[in-house]
Amino acid sequence: MNDMTQSPLDRDARAIMQANDRGRYSIPTSGLYPYQWNWDSAVAAAGYAEFDLDRAWLELETLFSGQWANGMVPHILFHKVDPGYFPGPDVWGCEGGPIASSGISQPPIAPTFARMVWEKDRAAGDAPMRRLFPKMLAWHQWFMDWRLDRGAVCVTHPWEAGRDNAPDWDGAMAAIDPTGVGDYQRRDTSHVDSDARPTKYDYDRYIWLVQLGRRLKWDEAALLKENPFRVADPTMTFALLRSARDLLAIGQALDLDTGALQDDIKTLEAGADTLWNPELEAYDARDVRSGLWAGSLSNASFMCWYAGIDNPAMQAPLEKMMRDSAYPVPSYPVDGEKFDSKRYWRGPSWAVMNMLIGVGLEDCGKPEGTLLRQKTGDLIRNFGFAEYYNPLDGTPAGGESFTWPAAVWLSWAGRA
Ligand code: DGY
Repeated sequence: MNDMTQSPLDRDARAIMQANDRGRYSIPTSGLYPYQWNWDSAVAAAGYAEFDLDRAWLELETLFSGQWANGMVPHILFHKVDPGYFPGPDVWGCEGGPIASSGISQPPIAPTFARMVWEKDRAAGDAPMRRLFPKMLAWHQWFMDWRLDRGAVCVTHPWEAGRDNAPDWDGAMAAIDPTGVGDYQRRDTSHVDSDARPTKYDYDRYIWLVQLGRRLKWDEAALLKENPFRVADPTMTFALLRSARDLLAIGQALDLDTGALQDDIKTLEAGADTLWNPELEAYDARDVRSGLWAGSLSNASFMCWYAGIDNPAMQAPLEKMMRDSAYPVPSYPVDGEKFDSKRYWRGPSWAVMNMLIGVGLEDCGKPEGTLLRQKTGDLIRNFGFAEYYNPLDGTPAGGESFTWPAAVWLSWAGRA
């Protein structure tokens, strides 16, 4: 995109990305999220790729510079301590990696977004891609080694799914007794309205889980045994399946060792099948400890197409979800019993999730992908670059001047 072809919104999006640029990485937004977040960075790279390919690669390389020795890529890298965010590195107490970090991961969309960046300019991208590839493969392997349940990928903390307070976790969260969590001071509600954020009930359990991980020295074998929170998650499962397909394609194109990716794809496809809740007639989260379904249709349910699974049974729920809201797919059905139009992942529409759903639909040749791209573009055009939006009237909520929607606009929604 040269300066002549930039629209005023392109310019605004670039300005937001530049304001959130910390040199080698970007933050999602200042104040609320002052560090490098894993899946935010992946999307940021696609945004940068529209005007500065070198910066796009740097974003990804910085993310992987925080990779732990066991292959895990943390969900937050605390490059420079900021007292405005809680819980910081002192609470996580992690020692597994070269950079202070959290002890959990996030949906592995970075390999897919790295492929998008690479495909913009293969000649320039081959060298950084060759450097990143073994790191991305090691991250993939970490999921395969530690997080599978019947082939579906599990989360060990709601923050790991990225959909912090989604109804998907209600059952597993209720099974946690957070007695002894102690006093702590939240910072998020000093930046954003508390009715747009998770509740104290949620936070007590989030922090209790962090304390458990710290006590177990973030050892995956110990967590597998002791952590009461283990949920097979559509976000993770569909993201890892898509990532495995992309890694295989990249590896074959560059003649690299692709390990067991072909077999892993089959394993993950079978795992995705285990997320099909026949009662809900949709993909759902499955609590591995209790064996119970969440019974929750979410925006992650619609990531099946992103994973290359064109399941005709998901067509009716997709059409209903798109019919019930004039805005892009909400995080939870607007007529669902737990729907809350403001509260983070319990109702609001997220530009990034709509990009993942929409890209998947487009890749599968489905016209709803184009519609979703247009709707997401309209949402940003009319309501700005917000963290999320009320799906009933579009009201922006959460953090402002957010990297995610800016990058979504530049790389996808603004190209409708
Ligand atoms: C937060 O602090 O709200 C984040 O979502 C954790 O990743």
